[in-house]
Amino acid sequence: MAESILALTESRQSRGSSTHLREHRADAPVDLPTRSRVVVEGLTALFGATAAVKNVSMTLLDRRVTAIIGPSGCGKSTFLRCLNRMHETVGTASVRGKVLLDGHDIYGQKTNPAAVRRHVGMVFQRPTPFPTMSIRENVAAGLRVARHDDAVRGTVEEIVEKALRRASLWDEVKDRLDTSAVGMSGGQQQRLCIARALATEPDVLLLDEPTASLDPLSTQKVEELVWELRADIAVVIVTHNMQQAARVSDFTAFFLHGEMVEFSPTAEIFTNPLDPRTEAYITGRFG
Ligand SMILES: Nc1ncnc2c1ncn2[C@@H]1O[C@H](COP(=O)(O)OP(=O)(O)OP(=O)(O)O)[C@@H](O)[C@H]1O
Ligand SMILES: [Mg+2]
Repeated sequence: MAESILALTESRQSRGSSTHLREHRADAPVDLPTRSRVVVEGLTALFGATAAVKNVSMTLLDRRVTAIIGPSGCGKSTFLRCLNRMHETVGTASVRGKVLLDGHDIYGQKTNPAAVRRHVGMVFQRPTPFPTMSIRENVAAGLRVARHDDAVRGTVEEIVEKALRRASLWDEVKDRLDTSAVGMSGGQQQRLCIARALATEPDVLLLDEPTASLDPLSTQKVEELVWELRADIAVVIVTHNMQQAARVSDFTAFFLHGEMVEFSPTAEIFTNPLDPRTEAYITGRFG
């Protein structure tokens, strides 16, 4: 396991060319430099013999948010799950093509899937706190899997606090860290899941419809959080909400029937889509 983590860490430091991209948000802070973080090459994801994602290639940039949009069943979640080796947890599933994290092939023979999942965190549509665990234990859960040695135990408290602060949840839960996570509101539970994903300090965070079950205020908090995380890591967000994609993302990919129809800067895809199918979808004239 240690080798795989090392390999990822080393390649992370040595790879990536710097690029600067135009910022589309008027209220955006000064854009930080970016570089390619995840390179997807000809990715096909199958369930048995059926391809749910077909030959998709795209580059995800560091310190940028990429939105994935498209109708139900077009392969958004499947694509996301290929980026941290979750797809293969389904018995019939298989993957073709390449996913490179900082140049390191996450499907390489020597790569440890658990190490990949620590570098590439994931949050699902419905909050999934562990019901028998306290708030503190929920945040630390990923760490326990991630780090078996005693040396880090003393720092767990600090890591939990930092992750909860980053998820904008600390002030709401700091006095009840030992109570059950199921006593939290839906929005708090989702931010708890985000804190759990952040505790391992991932390089990439995958959010699969993270606000689908949340009220407007909780949704706003998660969107603000995405915007803050953007200063540090690459974020991918699947959403059915066009306004959300427009608000939070730098790039948007439109998927249809498992294919990626279009991948453009968000400002362009929503004002001047290249493909008529993209236009039909974003204007609500689809199907
Ligand atoms: N566990 C599975 N076994 C077999 N087929 C699956 C499985 N999960 C998803 N699929 C199929 O793969 C295709 C893509 O599904 P996926 O969940 O990626 O779509 P999606 O774009 O995320 O949809 P939604 O917007 O509804 O979440 C669909 O045809 C779906 O039926
Ligand atoms: Mg989905």
